[in-house]
Amino acid sequence: MAHETIIAETRGKVGLITLNRPKALNALNSQVLADILDAVKAFEADPKIGAMVITGSEKAFAAGADIKEMQTKTYVEAFLQDFFVGWEELTRARKPIIAAVAGYALGGGCELAMMCDFIIAADSAKFGQPEITLGVMPGMGGSQRLTRFVGKSKAMDMVLTGRMMDAAEAERCGLVSRIVPAADLVDEALKAAAKIADFSLPAVMMAKEAVNRSYETTLAEGLRFERRVFHSMFALDDQKEGMAAFAEKRKANFTNS
Ligand code: CAA
Repeated sequence: MAHETIIAETRGKVGLITLNRPKALNALNSQVLADILDAVKAFEADPKIGAMVITGSEKAFAAGADIKEMQTKTYVEAFLQDFFVGWEELTRARKPIIAAVAGYALGGGCELAMMCDFIIAADSAKFGQPEITLGVMPGMGGSQRLTRFVGKSKAMDMVLTGRMMDAAEAERCGLVSRIVPAADLVDEALKAAAKIADFSLPAVMMAKEAVNRSYETTLAEGLRFERRVFHSMFALDDQKEGMAAFAEKRKANFTNS
């Protein structure tokens, strides 16, 4: 898959997307959005792919939405285009996506990482929502997703002061799931994705949908949804195989059926 602003490749059962605008610290312009959506769509449609990783460079996962692209936009243009709504399509991906973050994940970069299912951070990672320093506020989900990740107090602190947090603080407050040495970041993320991709794809996709449901509904409805999905899993060959393999003390051979 050839793209202008990303490199999309497969590593076994994993789709790897590397943001590739080094001169702009991977700033997210409309071409990056189009390229990411195109690659994710292809990986979603490929039955050999079980999970994806989105990463950037050592210096920057992404330093935000492209300020130079948007600086002259008018209110009417922003409103009529429903500016940034296109990113929501990424959150509708049904296969898991891991963000592997080294260096700056600022503004839209932090928001892109939060659109993924979980974040693995290099010890060099720096997260922030500095939009306030530009006379605006987050527009790709930062005021909503960051608040759900880290709670009101820290989200207000980040959004209103524009300060950055390092990887250790991001792990402490639940923004990232784990920290790894910068040199191992992509390998560790690929390893985690490969592990997921070896499980039953329908079970993985249902589990992702159930966790995401917790953000959309009440606890009672979420628990009901979880049970119903859990019940439906007894229709999978992979449930029979997974439990038989446990009882027979062998490795399960999932067939995604
Ligand atoms: N948009 C466009 N270009 C950007 C960019 C961005 N968000 N971030 C960096 N760049 C460009 C710089 O303009 C520079 O290009 P030139 O060489 O052509 O001048 C190049 O990338 C390298 O950047 P710096 O020279 O600034 O690198 P640095 O190491 O000195 O600083 C940095 C790194 C602290 C990340 C700094 O680049 C910076 O503050 N970037 C902007 C961060 C920001 O404000 N992000 C929020 C954007 S708004 C947003 O994301 C809205 C939203 O909610 C979606």
